[in-house]
Parts: sequence; structure tokens; C-alpha cells
Amino acid sequence: MKKQWLFLLVLFFVASSMVFAGGAKEPAPATGSDLIVVGYAQVGAESDWRTANTESFKSTFVEANGYKLIFDDAQQKQENQIKAIRNFIQQDVDYIVVAPVVETGWETVLQEAKNAGIPVILSDRQMKLSDESLYVAWVGGNFLKEGDDSVTWLNTYLKSVGRDNEDMNIVLLQGTIGSSAQVGRTQGIVEGLAKNPHYKLLARQTGEFTQAKGQEVMESFLKAYPDIDVVFAENDNMAFGAIDAIKAVGKVPGKDIIIISFDAVREAFNKMIAGELNAAIECNPLHGPRVAEIIQTLEKGGTVAKIQYVVEEVFDQANAAARFPTRMY
Ligand code: AHR
Repeated sequence: MKKQWLFLLVLFFVASSMVFAGGAKEPAPATGSDLIVVGYAQVGAESDWRTANTESFKSTFVEANGYKLIFDDAQQKQENQIKAIRNFIQQDVDYIVVAPVVETGWETVLQEAKNAGIPVILSDRQMKLSDESLYVAWVGGNFLKEGDDSVTWLNTYLKSVGRDNEDMNIVLLQGTIGSSAQVGRTQGIVEGLAKNPHYKLLARQTGEFTQAKGQEVMESFLKAYPDIDVVFAENDNMAFGAIDAIKAVGKVPGKDIIIISFDAVREAFNKMIAGELNAAIECNPLHGPRVAEIIQTLEKGGTVAKIQYVVEEVFDQANAAARFPTRMY
């Protein structure tokens, strides 16, 4: 009798293990262990450009493409980005991507990443580092050239409307002070303006790359200087704020005051088509696929170019309507 029970018990275990083995033939559920883990220390959400940049990363670094993205929004604060990078190191991610708020102050935390053997890729803004080996590659826009292009556009435009011999009172809305986007654009603009004796730079002040602050600073410029001819806004959103401030004092943006901005987001095209913005110097935010390409090359043991500029164009009221339908951001 005992032997019969034992036989039945063995039979039960064999049968149930066969059922289990049959189940195991199904594809194993994804554990995530073979995904490449990428930590992205993003600046914040201060502008349309930034939103497009975040979206580019979120749509590229997805499981279907073999990635797990850990995203951190630093709310425009360097200390938050440093904390985020330390968290990424603790989580032992495969790659760290940083869009640095400002250029300086990164050596210590990047050395920590290097000691942990985690490659760092810079996106968008650059860092000023004493040791260039602290990052593998950078991808972004040429901010100095953008600044330079903006003044070249103004020179050409004034000539085309027969105003190149008029004196021009100019104000400059700057981005976040110390960010490479601000440093490069300001340098390009200031050096470009200095070449023309008709140009007078009345004032420059940061609008922190936000629409609200851009509007606030423009309001104070308009109070201090009632005869402004040209505004350079170091991004589109500050230009949108400036447009509102100009309208509020009864002037016509794009006519009474020439406005030149940077980024060339879709709303900038709407404003150029409406005649309120004169020109937008492109800064391309779609870095997700470019960073993914760098990672794929590194994964295969390849080498990548250290500095990778993206191609950027200049748009104005003459070409805005034709180019608008194909704009990706
Ligand atoms: O670093 C790129 C700049 O940052 C963009 O011009 C601006 O819109 C953003 O906030």
C-alpha cells in the first residue's frame, strides 16, 4: 500500500514538472537585465526647445530600442544635476548623459563617474573642464556661430530695406548666465555688433531662457529706453515674452522693433508668419538619436568624434511659411 502511494506521488511530480517545462517554452518575460541603462540629467523644462529635447530622448531611449532611460529634470539648478549624476552612479547605469546647466564646476562629479567606469556623454551645452577625458563626446549646436549668424542676418536685412546707414539702438535678452548657450551667443552677438558703428548696444540682462522672465526684462528695457530699434533674445521663449511686452506699450513687434531670436521652434514660425518675429536662428534639439548612435558605436568597441556639431539654419519671414510644414519641433 505504502509503495502504491509513493508511486502515485512520484507520478504527480513528474507530470507537474512536465506541465511546468511546457510552460517554460514560452518566451521568457523581459527582465530588463539586457537593456542598456542610460541616465539623462536634463536642465529643466524652461522652454519649448527643452520640451522638444526631452521628448527626443524619451522617444529614442525606449525598451523597444534596447534601452531603459532614467530621466531627471534639474529645474535649472546645477546642484540638482550633480545629485542626479551621483544617483545614476549609485544605480550603476551603463551611460550618463548630461545637458549641463552651466559650463563650470563639474570636475568632481565627473571624476566620480569615471572612477565608477561609467562613460559620460554631453548633450546640448558644453562644459569647461581641466581634463577632457572626463567625457566621451559632446553633441549640440554651435552657439558662437549662432550669435554670429544673428548679426549677419541683421546686417543683410537692414541693407535689404535700405536702413543700413541708420543708427540702431539694441537690447539683448540673455539666457542663463554661465551656460554655454548664453556664453557663445552673447559673444557672437556682442563681437558682431561691435564691428558696425551704427549699432549701439544699450543694455543686456538675463531672462533665464523663460518667457515670463523675458517679458519682465523687456518691460524694464522699454521703460528705461523708449527708442529701442532691435531686440536680440537668446531663445524663442524670451522673444515671445518680449513680443507681449512690446504690444503692451502700444508698439508693433516685428515692425517698430526688429526681433531676432534663437531655437526656431514651431511657435517661432507662427510668429514669423504673423510678422511679429523677424528672424529665428536655429538650434536643433533633436539629440536623442545622435546620442543613441554614439552609444551604439561605443557598445561595438568603436571610437566616436569628441565634438559633434549639429547642422543649423537661419529662418526669417521670407522662408518661414514654406519651411513650417516640415518642422519637427
Ligand atoms: O541650451 C540650449 C538653450 O536652452 C535653448 O536655446 C533654450 O531654449 C534652452 O533653454
